[in-house]
Amino acid sequence: MNLNIALLPGDGIGPEVLAQAVKCLEAVEETFNHSFSYKEASVGAIAINRKGAPLPQSTLALCKEADAVLLGAIGDSKSDNNPDAKLRPKEGLLMLRKELGLFANIRPVKVFPSLIKNSPLKKEIIEGTNFTIYRELTGGIYFGKKSLNEEGTIASDLCEYSETEISRIAHLAFKAAKNRNKKLTLVDKANVLESSRLWRKVVTQIGESYPDVTLEFLFVDNAAMQIILNPSQFDVILTENMFGDIISDEGSVIGGSIGLLASASVGDENAMFGPIHGSYHQAKGKDIANPIASILSAAMLLEHFGLFEEAMAVREAVDKSLKKGIMTPDLDSNSQYGTNQVGDFIAENIVESDDFNMNDENIDLGKSTII
Ligand code: IPM
Ligand code: MN
Repeated sequence: MNLNIALLPGDGIGPEVLAQAVKCLEAVEETFNHSFSYKEASVGAIAINRKGAPLPQSTLALCKEADAVLLGAIGDSKSDNNPDAKLRPKEGLLMLRKELGLFANIRPVKVFPSLIKNSPLKKEIIEGTNFTIYRELTGGIYFGKKSLNEEGTIASDLCEYSETEISRIAHLAFKAAKNRNKKLTLVDKANVLESSRLWRKVVTQIGESYPDVTLEFLFVDNAAMQIILNPSQFDVILTENMFGDIISDEGSVIGGSIGLLASASVGDENAMFGPIHGSYHQAKGKDIANPIASILSAAMLLEHFGLFEEAMAVREAVDKSLKKGIMTPDLDSNSQYGTNQVGDFIAENIVESDDFNMNDENIDLGKSTII
């Protein structure tokens, strides 16, 4: 398959982790005979520095032309935490989502058996956790009308949703649930918010066309508790923009590191893939950032184009690196491995997956040829 991929390395650790995902995609090209082409553009703080805008026109044009976008990370601590900043790097991400019509953000939360000890939660609680969050991404309070009075003393952000905005992502979430464990949980605040009551109405109605999917409702405050108390009860969670932002960070804690969580943002015409974490400036250039979220985002990209075997090869290579302890210091404080080495190991295992599987059998038999 030929694919044109737009690369947006962005800020902080973004370029470092993205480079590892590209290594893995190149390994997939080589192993499975595909041809991917890569074109790079700037977004976020680096784009403000270079071009005076967080999302330059040329970057947007490149993304629109591409089959898919692969994103590193966006943000810089100075302007992110300064309420008076004129140009905000993260605006670049919000504009990208809106301009590309990426209304559904898909964030899988899974516990890797080899990392169970990394979780701050007890083993009995987190075992078997495997759910996916469908977060609405182009509406709600993020994009509603904003206002600030002249004195600068009263501010508001409007949370608005239309039936159309709710139903298009609800269909995607129901379809996903149908192919998984057939349970969909709508997370809302329908006891207080009018917009949440519309979500319930629309989602309930759509649910009638998916009779084999069980639909449940959970208020967001209760959901925040349930995700920690009993995460394995969830299969697909559907929710609006802001609640999805919050509970996906919460979900990332279950697996032991936010550096493991990948995401896909999809719309009718475009798709973008990238880690859920931020730009983590403190780690920039230190070769310590975890590249796995970025690499797993590349796996989601492959799945998006129906390249399931290829995505599986990437996932298996990631599993292998974790099993063998080839991981960055966020997962093992004594680790000697850096971002680059972890990326190299995973990419090499994609290329040599067959040989390595054979060798693993030998390891089990005590006849390994490499140890
Ligand atoms: C995320 C991020 C973004 C969001 C920020 C960077 C605007 O936290 O993708 O979860 O809030 O959506
Ligand atoms: Mn977030």
